[in-house]
Amino acid sequence: MGLAHANGAVEADTTVDRWDRDHSWHPFTQMAEYCATPPLHIERGEGCWLWDTEGNRYLDGNASIWTNAHGHNDPDINAALIDQVGKVSHSTYLGLSHPAGAELGARLAELSPNGLDRVVFSDNGSNAVEIALKLSFQYWQLVGRHEKRLVVGVENGYHGDTFGAMAAGNSGGFHGRFDPWLFESRSIPAPYCLEVNGEGESSDFQRSLAALEAVLDRESEQIAALVVEPLVQGPAGMKLMPRGFLKAVEAMCREKEVHLILDEVFVGCGRMGTLFACEQESVEPDFLCLAKGLTAGYLPLAATVTTESVYAAFLGSFDSGNGFYHGHTFTGNPLAARVALTSLQKLEALMESGKLDATIRRFGERFAAVFNGHPNVAPARQRGLAAAIDLTPGHGKPAWPLNDRVGLQVCLEARKHGLLLRPLLDSILIVPPLVISTEEIDFLFENLKAAIEAVMKR
Ligand SMILES: Cc1ncc(COP(=O)(O)O)c(C=O)c1O
Repeated sequence: MGLAHANGAVEADTTVDRWDRDHSWHPFTQMAEYCATPPLHIERGEGCWLWDTEGNRYLDGNASIWTNAHGHNDPDINAALIDQVGKVSHSTYLGLSHPAGAELGARLAELSPNGLDRVVFSDNGSNAVEIALKLSFQYWQLVGRHEKRLVVGVENGYHGDTFGAMAAGNSGGFHGRFDPWLFESRSIPAPYCLEVNGEGESSDFQRSLAALEAVLDRESEQIAALVVEPLVQGPAGMKLMPRGFLKAVEAMCREKEVHLILDEVFVGCGRMGTLFACEQESVEPDFLCLAKGLTAGYLPLAATVTTESVYAAFLGSFDSGNGFYHGHTFTGNPLAARVALTSLQKLEALMESGKLDATIRRFGERFAAVFNGHPNVAPARQRGLAAAIDLTPGHGKPAWPLNDRVGLQVCLEARKHGLLLRPLLDSILIVPPLVISTEEIDFLFENLKAAIEAVMKR
C-alpha cells in the first residue's frame, strides 16, 4: 500500500509503483485520479485470471480491453509464438513477404465474406479503419469520381483515435476537443435496441434508415463510404443494433454506390458467436476491419480486408502514382501473424464444438437473472459475449454528480471481490474472454452485484 500524499496522491512504496507513478502516462485515464487510487500492477495470467504483483487473483472481466479469446498464457499460442521467435521475430512487409503473413492473408481471404480477398495489415484498430477510409477515398479518385470524398458515420460510433477514424466516428465525449482538426463528415442517428439473452424489449431503426436515405438522396455523388460497427457499438457502451438494420444499410449503400466499411475491431473474431458479426445478416462489405481479438489478446495486429476490384484500381506503372502509400513499421509482424493463425484455428474449433454458443447462452441467462430489474441498473443489455449496465441511484432519485465516479467506485470495489472491470462513466462494460467457464460466469455476475451493492450502501 502507498502513503497518503499532501496533494491527495498515494505515494508509491514499491519500485514498480514509483516508476509507474513518476513516469507513466496511461491512456484514457485522468492521471490525477489514477495517482490517488490504490495501485494495481498485473504480473501474470492464466486462463481467464490475472495475478497482481502482490499475488492477488482477478477474473479478467474485460478480456484485457476486449482482446482475449482463449485465456492468458495459452499453451498452443505460446508454442506457436516460441516457434516463430526461433525463426524470425520481425521482417518488414514493405515490398517483402514472409510465410506467416502470406498464410494469414490467404486464411483471412478464405474466411471473410464473399469477394473480400485482399488484406492490408497494420497494427491496431484505429489504423485498420484509417486504411479502409484512405483506400475508399483513393479508389474513387482512381476511377475518376473525384467528388466522392465524404464519409457517413453513425451517431456514437467509435472507430479509434487517429484523425480519419475520429472524423468518421461520432464520439464527442472522447474526441469533441479535436473537432476543429477533423475533416467534414455526415452522421445518421443510431438505431435503438434493448436485448438481453436474445429477448428484445424494444427496438427501432426506421429513424436511422430514413436519415440515411435522405443523406444518400442528397449527397451520394459526394459520398465515398459509410462506416459502421455491426450489431453492437462497443465503445459507446454496448449500444445494440436491431436485427435487419445492417442488411438494410448494405442495400442502400449498394444502390447509391457508396462503400460499406464494417468496423469489426470489437465485434469480430468470435465476440458475437460467429467469426465475423456481418455473417449474422449475410452482409458483404467493401472493407472489413479487424484488430483486438485477431491475435486473441497476445500481440498488436490489425487487418483491413477488401475486394479484388478495389485492389485492381490501384495497379499501374510506378509513375502512375496509383500505389497505396500507407504502412507501418510493424505491418504484418510475423510473430503476430503466427499467433493470429493459431488463434483462428482454435476459434474455429471452439465454434464447431458448440462451446462458444453454449457459453454465450449461459452468459445471457445469468446476466438476465442477476441484472434484469435490479433497482440500480437501467437498462441492461447483452449480445454475444458483451454486456453492459448503466448504474442509476434508483427510481425517482436525482442523478449522481459526474465527479462521484460511481462506475469507477464499483470497479474499484469489484477488485476487492477478485474481479477486474473497466467503467465507461457510470456504465459497466462486461466483456470476458471467449473461453470463460460456467463457474467463472457465475463468479463474475455475483461479484459485480456484490460490488454494486457495497457501493450503493456507502
Ligand atoms: C469498434 C472499435 N473500433 C476501433 C477501435 C480502435 O482500436 P485500437 O484501440 O486498437 O486503435 C476500437 C477500440 O476500442 C473499437 O472498439
